Amino acid sequence: MSTLITNVAELMTQDLDHRVLKDAAVVIEGERVAWLGQAADAPAADEAVDAGGRALLPGWVDSHTHLIFAGDRTAEFEARMAGESYSAGGIAVTTGATRTTSDFDLTRLAMGRVAEAVSQGTTYLETKTGYGLDVENEARSARIASTVVDEVTYLGAHLVPAGMDAQEYTDLVCGPMLAAVRPFVRWADVFCERGAFTEEQSRRVLQACRDTGLGLRVHGNQLGEGPGVQLAVEFGAASVDHVNYLSAADVDALAASWSGWDPGSSRGTGAGRGTVATCLPACDLSTRQPLAPGRDLLDAGVQLALASNCNPGTSYTSSMAFCVTTAVLQMRLSVHEAVRAATYGGALALGRESGTDTDGERAVGSIAVGHRADLHLLNAPSATHLAYRPGIPLTHAVWRAGVRAR
Ligand code: NIG
Repeated sequence: MSTLITNVAELMTQDLDHRVLKDAAVVIEGERVAWLGQAADAPAADEAVDAGGRALLPGWVDSHTHLIFAGDRTAEFEARMAGESYSAGGIAVTTGATRTTSDFDLTRLAMGRVAEAVSQGTTYLETKTGYGLDVENEARSARIASTVVDEVTYLGAHLVPAGMDAQEYTDLVCGPMLAAVRPFVRWADVFCERGAFTEEQSRRVLQACRDTGLGLRVHGNQLGEGPGVQLAVEFGAASVDHVNYLSAADVDALAASWSGWDPGSSRGTGAGRGTVATCLPACDLSTRQPLAPGRDLLDAGVQLALASNCNPGTSYTSSMAFCVTTAVLQMRLSVHEAVRAATYGGALALGRESGTDTDGERAVGSIAVGHRADLHLLNAPSATHLAYRPGIPLTHAVWRAGVRAR
């Protein structure tokens, strides 16, 4: 079955050549992009969709979420808006609610959040454990996550549960808990921050998880300067997320991690790739932290991702469009840069930015022949409208792996 999407006013491919085509068309065949080019040259297909002069982008790749949770933290949010500051301790509230929720309800809640994201143009999603914080509940979270999203990250090292010794808990995270989640996850993460895990504890977690073959990511430099970024680069983590408080040495380390990278030749978590800096603007606003210095990072040569960080504590939104809008209006990214960070950048952070028919694993986050047909049709003639019309829901249609999802 093939589908021709034609009469596309602007096709923002986010491919390696950064092509933006006018008066374009795309052909989907099964789950893959089979052709793209000028509408006048388009081949015939089984069915045709008239895009009506709208803009077509890759679907959003949301590379940082925490969707496996129950409960509500409205009161904490209200207190923050009244002047309280965010602290990692709030994670315990969600952990309590999550542990007492059934598998059925946790799955249902997570599926609802995924559906909400897809309806807004997200076509590839990562999520983390981290609200279980014991062996049974972390394994349960990982198992449920693996049934509802594309990529699962183990975040047993999110918070030391009340009453537990930090060293003993770190032993658990690096030992029995890791073994229990391992069948369900591809990534591991650690919240390396004051009030969460120290540099020494984070190092142990990263080492143990890397030894089992997991790709790494780090929550770092969210609440103040600290060792998170340097640790992420040292361990060759695929991403370091938050990055609000960076020293010049942090920016230099991230930039150096990409020197000599050839985007056409490296894939997955392999050599030659650096550490993506993932900015989470909705979280920054919701916690009243300074926005991450996305402009400076890009100017320094760092590869950037934008993600929603959807979670009940610091960023209760799955709107990638909101993140893109904020990145343009307040972080001084161009529209093309912001959309790239929310599509190709997210894919890069997940090691899914390359791969075609012959690789057995299709690239996401860009529109190119052989890549997964993850497409987002805006109800606007250009992607610029994402920033020009802030707050307006602009998703008109979504294809996920070639299937119409909205
Ligand atoms: O990415 N920073 C750590 N983890 C989440 C927040 C978790 C929570 O407060 O529930 C985040 O912001």
